[in-house]
Amino acid sequence: MEKKITVLVGSLRKESFNRKIAMELIRLAPKSLNMELVEIGDLPFYNEDLEENPPKQWTDFRETIKNSDGVLFVSPEYNRTIPAVLKNAIDVASRPGGKSVWKGKPGSVVTASPSGIGGFGANHNIRQAVVFLDVPMMQQPEMYLGKVHELFQEDGKTVIERTEKFLKTYIDAYANWVYKF
Ligand SMILES: Cc1cc2nc3c(=O)[nH]c(=O)nc-3n(C[C@H](O)[C@H](O)[C@H](O)COP(=O)(O)O)c2cc1C
Repeated sequence: MEKKITVLVGSLRKESFNRKIAMELIRLAPKSLNMELVEIGDLPFYNEDLEENPPKQWTDFRETIKNSDGVLFVSPEYNRTIPAVLKNAIDVASRPGGKSVWKGKPGSVVTASPSGIGGFGANHNIRQAVVFLDVPMMQQPEMYLGKVHELFQEDGKTVIERTEKFLKTYIDAYANWVYKF
């Protein structure tokens, strides 16, 4: 049976490299994964005071995660850690207390950056937050895409061949990970 995977991108930029990588992972995914990129830019900042009458964007997002069979994070690194928009999405779906919808959703994380380090800091900070929320995170292969601006063909959308192979290996491994649960 097909598994429904929610893809969350930690950049709101229209020409985001991470968004393009997410789209390539969706293109390369095996048929056993039904992957959908879910927007997180319009989620109001988490504030416990709003839980009495939570914003519709929060309740819709919580429902989306609840109905997913897994979550793939694709993110840049901001100041060596998680971009606020992605951390906010993680926080929103972790509350109200005791009602987190993250628990048990097999996850994985890809980080990409024009710098050489490939968002290593963000990658591990995302892991740190969601492992606490009981998301079983795929450990291998890891994916830190450095010099990401050099990994696309002339159309600016399609990755070059060696990166395509790497992404394909990664998304196939993630499909196997999802099916273990
Ligand atoms: C606020 C801010 C902080 C950043 N900090 C880092 C950083 O710590 N490490 C890094 O590799 N790149 C950093 N960058 C550069 C981003 O990697 C670069 O802008 C990248 O293209 C953002 O990802 P995107 O193309 O998916 O939007 C930072 C960019 C911004 C806007």
